[in-house]
Parts: sequence; C-alpha cells; structure tokens
Amino acid sequence: MNLASRLSEAKARSARLFRAPGRVNIIGEHTDYNDGLVLPTNTALYTWLTISPRLDRTVQVTTRNLRDTQSFSLDDIRRSEKPGWLDYVKGVAALIEIEGIRLQGAEISVDSEIPIGGGLSSSASLELATANALLEISGATMKPQQMAALCQQAEQQYAGVNCGIMDQYSVACCPRGEAMRLDCRSLEATSVVIPADISFVVTDSGVKHSLPDGGYNNRADECQKALALIQEIEPGIQSLRDISVTGLQKFESLLDVLSLRRARHVVTENHRVDSACAALASNDIEKLGKLVSESHTSLRDDFEVSCKEIETLVEIADACDGVLGSRMVGAGFGGCILSVTHTSRVAESIEKINSDYGKIIGDAPWIHVVAQANPAAEVDTQ
Ligand code: GLA
Repeated sequence: MNLASRLSEAKARSARLFRAPGRVNIIGEHTDYNDGLVLPTNTALYTWLTISPRLDRTVQVTTRNLRDTQSFSLDDIRRSEKPGWLDYVKGVAALIEIEGIRLQGAEISVDSEIPIGGGLSSSASLELATANALLEISGATMKPQQMAALCQQAEQQYAGVNCGIMDQYSVACCPRGEAMRLDCRSLEATSVVIPADISFVVTDSGVKHSLPDGGYNNRADECQKALALIQEIEPGIQSLRDISVTGLQKFESLLDVLSLRRARHVVTENHRVDSACAALASNDIEKLGKLVSESHTSLRDDFEVSCKEIETLVEIADACDGVLGSRMVGAGFGGCILSVTHTSRVAESIEKINSDYGKIIGDAPWIHVVAQANPAAEVDTQ
C-alpha cells in the first residue's frame, strides 16, 4: 500500500497516521549493551499505525500482519501470561503512565513492512510508533531521545529482552538519509554521510529469530561475566568498552576461552565502528566492505551468533562482483544479512543473490535496498 492510500484510509476512519522506520545497522553489533559504539541507519520500511481516541481507558490493537486483535486496560497493565506482540504496546503505555502522563484509551491498527525477527528492529519500530501515537492523542510530548530510552525500558521490562539502546535511538533520532555513530554510554550522536557510490542490500535468510527466547540475553550475560573477570584485575574498568584492542592482550591468559571470545568481539567491533566512520568520511568504500566482512567473521567465530543459512547467504552475496562485503545484521541467530554494494551494480547483485539463494531455499528470498527514511513521527493527514 502506498502513502496516498494509507493517508486516505486513515482520513476515512477519522484516525491519525503514524509511522516508524526499520533500522539497518551498518556495523557495531552486540556493542550497545556493553556501552560501546554503533553505526545504524534507518530504511524506508515502516511500521504504519493508525490511531483514534476512545472515551474509556481501553487500548484495542489490531495487527494486520498477524491478523490478531487484542486489548488491555490502561488502569491495569500487566505482562501477558503468554508473552507476545501486545507486550511491546503494553510496555510503552505502562512506562508513559509511570512518567506521570495520563493516556487516553485508543483504537490502534498496526501494519508493518519490516520482516518480524529479521534483525531490522521491527520491535523498536512498533514501540516508537506506539509511543508517538499514544502521546500525541493524549496531548503530551516527549523528546525523541527520551522516547527512545522509554521504549528500550519497555522492551526490557515487558518483552524480557535485555536490549541495548541502539534500535530505539536510531528509529527515533537517526536523520533521514544518514548513518548515526552513537556512543551508547554518553549517547553522543554524530551524523555520518553515506557516499552515493555505495548501497546497502539487505537479504532475508528466511530463518526467524525470537529475542525473548534466550540466546540474546545469554550473550549479554556472558559479556557481563567476561567483564567481571577483568574487573577482578582492574576494578577501574567499567565496561568492555573501556578496553582497547591492544589492551585486551593483558587479560587474555586470565579469561576462560568463552569469555575471551565474547570480550574480543566487543573490543574489536568497537574499533571497527570508528574505522568504518573514517572509511565513510574518506569515501574508502573498499575499506568499508572489508570491515563489514571482518565484523561478520567476529560475530560468527567469537560471538557465535550466526547460523548455517546465514553463512551460505553471506558466501553467495560475497561472490557477486558488485559486493564489497557482507555480514549478518542485528542480533543474529538468523534474520537478514547486509551487503555493501557498488550502487551501479545493485541490480546485477540482486539478480545473482536471488537466483543462487533462491535455488537453495526453493523460493525467491526477500531482498531490500536501504532507502532514505524519516525517523518515527506522525504523517500529516490534512
Ligand atoms: C538487537 C537489540 C539491540 C542490539 C542488537 C545487536 O537488535 O535490540 O539492542 O543489541 O540486537 O547489535
């Protein structure tokens, strides 16, 4: 459905229309919850949300994707007994009320273009679309940065995912058409220009991940364990982020094999984020491709969040002449890969990936070229 039909549909129902983009992380994976560095951008795949106020305090939500309608009362918000998609909406509503803002009941309809469990922040996008919409119809406002932090808390407390701040911050704040280097400790954000010579091609492996299922939280715990071991020797180190690539050598013999691997990924990935920013600034696209490939190797071997299908897909994408480097994107355990591609060779690369991976999975994979997107906001229906 295009923007014009979404607008007229909302208008016909006297509803207001909101949208929040998906995010594509260029580099800096599993670093955010270690106070580290990330480099996401947003893409024009949106969670679309229409909302009209109700007179009572019920929030009724329909998801077109999952063909489901559920409701809850703003006077009694509790995590669902059977965890599910509504918890993301409940969490956002609950935390806004805790901020002292009294929300109005609402009829909400959600339609997302972002593949669920694909590593493109479908959850954060739903959270931010919801936060914007609930606040607006209740006559309240909040800064995007504050909304991002609130939505992160909502995901942690209501969906049980101990996520970092990257997804919510990118969806809420990343400027249109740019990447954002975010320091997840200070929350200092710097815009990074993406050269026109490169495009980011995203391909879905078809393997869905579910973050509340445990693998993600388990990695966060392992990073904490590695940190605790390091702190026994150097209590001044507050997070893995405080360790440089050469500085890690000092701790190598003191860490067990698993802790060393996890720590090494985080430490080297932070370094790669800054190298990637430098490569983008000097239009060194070959270097960017190389860094993206190195990030993938580290995620596969040291962080162990890849899977067989992702490996096949990365290999296929990297065999395309127009592709400079590929890696898994988002939390991992399936989902999408990102390929840094010469803009002039996007079409031929897509054709090859389509045909080669299509033969393996027996169907054409979902492929998307990252396109400029606005951060989460209302779409004017007037
Ligand atoms: C998920 C989380 C983010 C981040 C990435 C991995 O998308 O929500 O906070 O940790 O995984 O980089």
